Amino acid sequence: MGKVHEATVSAPVNIAVIKYWGKRDSALILPTNSSLSVTLSQDHLSTRTTIRASPDFPADRLWLNGVEEDISASKRLVNSITTARKLREALEEKQRKDGIPAESVVPLSKWSIHVCSENNFPTAAGLASSASGYAALVSALGALYDLPQSTSELSRVARVGSGSACRSMFGGFVAWQAGVADDGNDSLAVQVANRQHWPELQALILVASDRKKAISSTAGMQTTVETSSLFAERVRTVVPQRMEAMKTAIANRDFENFAEITMRDSNQFHAVCLDTYPPISYMNDTSRAIVGLIHAFNAARGRIAAAYTYDAGPNAVIYALKDDMRDLVELFTFCFPREESMLADAFYPDPFGVFAL
Ligand code: PMV
Repeated sequence: MGKVHEATVSAPVNIAVIKYWGKRDSALILPTNSSLSVTLSQDHLSTRTTIRASPDFPADRLWLNGVEEDISASKRLVNSITTARKLREALEEKQRKDGIPAESVVPLSKWSIHVCSENNFPTAAGLASSASGYAALVSALGALYDLPQSTSELSRVARVGSGSACRSMFGGFVAWQAGVADDGNDSLAVQVANRQHWPELQALILVASDRKKAISSTAGMQTTVETSSLFAERVRTVVPQRMEAMKTAIANRDFENFAEITMRDSNQFHAVCLDTYPPISYMNDTSRAIVGLIHAFNAARGRIAAAYTYDAGPNAVIYALKDDMRDLVELFTFCFPREESMLADAFYPDPFGVFAL
């Protein structure tokens, strides 16, 4: 067998506090608005991807959680791999032009790859895995191909796999700038602040249902763009103002503003889903009960001590500062009783936890 080149990278899930919902270009995955998220810790929800390239592999192959999948069945997967290969091809071309001897330029762009990707969380848990999946894939391709591009530049490649994946290329607090260019050149992720900037901030995931969502985000957002009149207002006036306010709240570690904007943006995202025709409803009774609990908790504290946010599904992500999070976990354990071990195991080893309701 010829020489095998290999790279392994992990990427975590991110949870948006200003939601991406709507594409202005479906092929390039260009969003209608900018968005901002917090990347969770590697330890709980992340994808670990190993890619091998060899002149002896007859074709590209992919294994997801140990099961082989058909790469060619996913246009987005093919797009991401092809885009990364083109960057490698350009690099090899440059190396040759720079006078590096032909035998020292490894023609990785011509070799097939084997991709092996594993989530460290149950795929059936109803938690977004495409963001960590594509971010891990593109980071691993970047490492394998020794690409000189910056993380922001590589985030454009992750974006063509799954929009929100571009934000998982960074840790900490990350903005996806919508951009204005038709070719998507300026639609990329930038880090707003790193994780160490705000270590007291914690996230807790409450799994309200592990069933697969009825309407995919791709189908849902398309219908929203076409039919919701509230949506246009959100894109034009609300999000630009919120993006700035959110960046200021993060810079100042101002939890009350961070939390209020997070809850308002989640509520508005679900409001435009309901304003979609036919309406889309991602939250369930458990989700709504949690919204009520958080507002009651905040009222009891006399300040905004916790925030909820929901993506295209019923599971809640709760943001709170460390001291309040302990009380919140007690509250959820009391309201949604479950065996203690699950909670202890999920919550205490790390600031970011998963709690199945
Ligand atoms: O990247 P997608 O197609 O999985 O869309 C994600 C959309 C939301 O999760 C609902 C919001 C967001 O910004 O992550």
